[in-house]
This record gives sequence, structure tokens and C-alpha cells, in this order.
Amino acid sequence: MKQLLMGLIVIIFAGCVVAQKKAMHQPDKDLLTTIDQNLSHAAAQYKILQQNLPAGKFPKTYFPVTKKYEFSNSGWWCSGFYPGTLLLLYQQTKDEALYTEAQRILEVLKKEQFNTTTHDLGFMMYCSFGNANLIQPSAAFKDILVTSAKSLSTRFSPVTGCIKSWDGKPNEYLVIIDNMMNLKLLFWATQVTGDSSFYRIAVTHANTTIKNHFRADNSSYHVINYNSQTGAIQQKRTAQGFADESAWARGQAWGLYGYTETYRETKDPKYLEQANKIASFILNHPNLPLDKIPYWDFSVGSNGNAPNIPNALRDVSAATIMASALLELSEYADKNLSVKYFKAAELILKNLSTEQYKATAGTNGGFLLKHSVGHFPAQTEIDVPLTYADYYFVEAMIRYKAMFK
Ligand code: GLY
Repeated sequence: MKQLLMGLIVIIFAGCVVAQKKAMHQPDKDLLTTIDQNLSHAAAQYKILQQNLPAGKFPKTYFPVTKKYEFSNSGWWCSGFYPGTLLLLYQQTKDEALYTEAQRILEVLKKEQFNTTTHDLGFMMYCSFGNANLIQPSAAFKDILVTSAKSLSTRFSPVTGCIKSWDGKPNEYLVIIDNMMNLKLLFWATQVTGDSSFYRIAVTHANTTIKNHFRADNSSYHVINYNSQTGAIQQKRTAQGFADESAWARGQAWGLYGYTETYRETKDPKYLEQANKIASFILNHPNLPLDKIPYWDFSVGSNGNAPNIPNALRDVSAATIMASALLELSEYADKNLSVKYFKAAELILKNLSTEQYKATAGTNGGFLLKHSVGHFPAQTEIDVPLTYADYYFVEAMIRYKAMFK
């Protein structure tokens, strides 16, 4: 009887906490309707994408002017996003055709669990098999994910305290901010196996990144070049940004999302603090446009040169990652910040739902969003749709809906 009473008190208390959280933000009813429309539109779009996929290939991008696709093999860092988006959409729509297609492409992807040449296994395997395992947990999915975590862990060095991104010259150990997005796979692996080594690698990487990747203004460098023998920093630079000292927009978004996620997984307040600092850099930046869809680089280079702002290209992919991260961060932040994050994410979602950014039915090769920038300095994937823009857009919309369930 006493236990029953205690149980009831816990349930009522938990209910109050949830109710309090929900009361913190009011849903925009029009946006909720738009999101439902977007999600069913997305399911139809992804069937177009599916019809155009050659066997064994993954979508990479589409060039609307020439109406040409680019595809990739399973080893490309983005290969998890197509199955991931299908699975997120299946969760929402219960459209079996999406699940069948996801299962087909997961079979093509699964060999990457043994890939030890990439730091991107978290993107590739958790966005895909992680979502599949959430929908229908299975020993097979679990094995694939644990093997993937082991493969990713081989790229960790206790000397540098980081997971290696790119294999450079022998004395170089190159680490990019993007790696923060691959830690979730390691946290998950510790939870299911009880092997804490994955967790330790993840937090060591997150701590080293706080120490070395961030500037005084809370923006981040893209690449840190460590000495592989001593761990000393040899260079701080960019690869995909405008300049070594500029703030590449997607890199800032990866950092925001990565530290929010690391806080979720560890509950260590230093990661929440880091996420708040990154959010502050992004949201208070004078070069953030009013619609909050960032230019591809914030361009606060020491030389002061901006890449053609206000006429520079926007990077919709950075906006989707930011929106998804800000919605989650709004659940952890104190009241004032929470409102700020929630409102910013809401505005991004509203703006991405307009024809300015969202493809109309049957266009864009089946991709959902237009106007992302993949790699400006290399002049590849410029002002195009990208799989990860779509993935985080869908994820953000689902997160928004879930806040008001
Ligand atoms: N991880 C590569 C990118 O964000 O483009």
C-alpha cells in the first residue's frame, strides 16, 4: 500500500514536471499544421528520390538546373541520412513502403560497420541503424551498432585525447569539430554493453575539443592539427570555411548539436555551458540574417573580410542542425534562454517551410530542402539540396511536435 502511494506520488510529480515544461512554450498551431503537411509531403518526395536511385547507391545531391543527381557508395559520410530520414518519416506516417525501402538500403550500408578509415561512423550508422533499432530493437541491429562503435574507437588516441578525423601526414593528427556528432554512437555502446571505454573516449574527445577548438568568442575552428607523437597543437585552420579565423556556419551548428547531445548523455553541466556559449555566438551574431538561416560562413575573420554578405549563399543544412539542437537545448536551459532557443528554432522551421527554401511537390529530385552549401572552398555541392539538411529538418519537426504531445 505504502509502495503504491509512493508510486502515485512519483507519477503525479513527474506529470507536474512535464506539465511545467510544456507550459514554458506555447505551440504555434499553424506551424504544427504545417509540420504535418511537410511530413506527408516529405514521404511523397522521398519516394521520388527512391525511384531515381541506382541499385546499391545512396543519394548525395541533385542539381535542379541540369536535373542531374549525384550518388555515392555506402562509404560516403552521408550514407546514413537517407535511411535515417526514411525511418523518421516511417515513424510519423506508418507508411510501410518507407520502411521497406529503409530495410533495403540498410542491407547495402551494413558493411560499413567494419570501416575504420572514417570518423563519421556515428552519422553513418547511428542515424540509420540507431533509428532502426529504436523502431524495432533487434540483436542484429545491436551487433552492427556495437561493431561500428568499436571501429570508431580505433581512431582514438590517448596522446591527443581525440578521435582522428582525417589521415594526414605521419606527424599530423587532424581533428574537425564535426566529430562531436559521432559521440552518440559511443555513449549508446556503453549503455548497451556496459563497457565504459566507449564513454571514456567520448568524454575525453568532448573535453579536448572544448579546450582546443574554441575561440574566446565561443566560435570554433574547423580543423585542429595535432602532433600525433606529442599531442601538441601544430595548427588551427579551416577546410570548409571561408578562412582559418572565420566561423564556418555548419561547424558552429555541429558544435551546438554535439554539446547539447553530450550534455543529454552525461548530464555534466560543463557541456550544457558549452552548448549555451555556442548558441550565444550564433544567435547574437550580427551576420545572422533576420530569418535565422545562416550564411554558409559567419565570416568573422581577423582580416574582417566577409564573403559577400549580404549576398552570400545561405546554408540551409546549418539552419536545420541548429533548429533541431536548439529545440533540445530549450528543454535544458533556464527560462530566458529556453524561450530564446525555442523561438529561434520555431522561426527557422517556419521559414524553411516556405517556398523560398522548401521544394514544391515533385521538384528538387525528391529532396525536401533547397539551398545548402556542402564545401564552398572546393566548389562542390554549392546551393543544392543535401541529405543531411533533410534529415535534421525532419528530426527538428518531429522534436517540435513531440514537445506538445
Ligand atoms: N562533416 C562534413 C560536413 O559537415 O560537411
